[in-house]
Amino acid sequence: MGVTSSEWPGYVRRFHDARPGITEEVLCSARDVHGVDPYRWVARAVPDGTLLDVACGSGPLAAVRPAWTGLDCSMAELRQAHRRGPLVAGRADAMPLADGSVAHAALVMALMVVDSPLDVLAEVVRVLSPGGAVAVLVPADGPLTARDAFAYGLLLSLVGRTALPFPRPEVVAQPRDVLESGGFEIVADERRRFELRLDPRGGIGPDRFVESLYLPDIGHRRRTALRGLARRWGSTHIGLPLRLLVGRVRTGTGRGRR
Ligand SMILES: C[S@@+](CC[C@H](N)C(=O)[O-])C[C@H]1O[C@@H](n2cnc3c(N)ncnc32)[C@H](O)[C@@H]1O
Repeated sequence: MGVTSSEWPGYVRRFHDARPGITEEVLCSARDVHGVDPYRWVARAVPDGTLLDVACGSGPLAAVRPAWTGLDCSMAELRQAHRRGPLVAGRADAMPLADGSVAHAALVMALMVVDSPLDVLAEVVRVLSPGGAVAVLVPADGPLTARDAFAYGLLLSLVGRTALPFPRPEVVAQPRDVLESGGFEIVADERRRFELRLDPRGGIGPDRFVESLYLPDIGHRRRTALRGLARRWGSTHIGLPLRLLVGRVRTGTGRGRR
């Protein structure tokens, strides 16, 4: 079992072509203890100014962030985002944008998905204007309630893994190190538990939740078992632990511009 690093890009591309907007469906069904959803959490963490949403997907951040521009390489995702604001079709590791052209940037559930996080961060450094900030939202291993931990334990045992797989697991395990290696100084780092409502009448249905997970090496039988498990959680909540880091370009970083 296992997916090689050369197989991940094709899997991620096919995944988002087949399910545009699925990350938005999940995160928009999740609330922290104050009733705030993850996109609003990100939007509030970045100072005012133009925001480049790198790997924007269907563009949900635009709803809570004025002066937004989205960039993604999936045409299916961009089609869903088309009424939300200016869009750029392109790769995050080779952005068709001028040096210093955006005030701030965000990577929401994206840095652990791209082929080369450090190449993407180098591009973010290049396009940010001096003093710009980047907000990076990634999955975390906590906080979880005992009930969440039990539910995820069952889910992972069905998947046959100790953690959910991502193309770049080091970004989930050590996001600070990755951002620092990419030339950023961390100015904020917080974890929060969001509650995801697993109910199609007011959240995301259990089958759709299972569909939202990157599970490249799971066959039909295990997937059916996973759906059965999630349905048993039905009309209830599951914790979604997320981590938000905010970085500023470290003095001296960049291609001779700073
Ligand atoms: C998990 S989704 C997150 C989407 C969005 N940020 C959100 O929170 O709804 C990851 C996104 O990354 C995009 N993506 C993956 N690799 C990329 C790359 N190299 N350049 C640009 N976008 C990329 C995918 O097309 C997908 O829309």
